[in-house]
Amino acid sequence: MPESFPDLEPVLQRHGRQADGLIEVLNHGQELYGYLGEPLLRHIARELRLPFSRVQGTASFYHLFRFTPPLRHSCLVCTGTACHVKGAGALLAVLAGEPLAERGIELGSVRCVGTCSGAPLVVVDGAVWNLQTSTALLAGLRRLEP
Ligand code: FES
Repeated sequence: MPESFPDLEPVLQRHGRQADGLIEVLNHGQELYGYLGEPLLRHIARELRLPFSRVQGTASFYHLFRFTPPLRHSCLVCTGTACHVKGAGALLAVLAGEPLAERGIELGSVRCVGTCSGAPLVVVDGAVWNLQTSTALLAGLRRLEP
């Protein structure tokens, strides 16, 4: 994580460096830098003239914010109703036993992505993998670049 954040300047200016722009600034900060590391949170606190504890506390309240760098790959299991009924739980169970983080794969979940006919599905690095079985999913994940 860098120590200066020039790309965030237009966002800070757009919100007039006002505290009520905190969520938007946090959101853009994460988009720009991938995650909200402590140096970035301290920068935002300074620029918005807010206590660091308030910025950190607000950010940690929302699940959409992350505080560590993303891994190389992401695997999001859809846990919407159709995928749940068609076996998302079994996919999650088998993935929970795999050393995914060691292979640079971050496991998460997502609610219905709107293509329920492909249930159960996962979203891997932004691509939808339809009609997954545990075997097919593990094989597909093994093919990802380390
Ligand atoms: S429930 Fe998974 S895509 Fe709709």
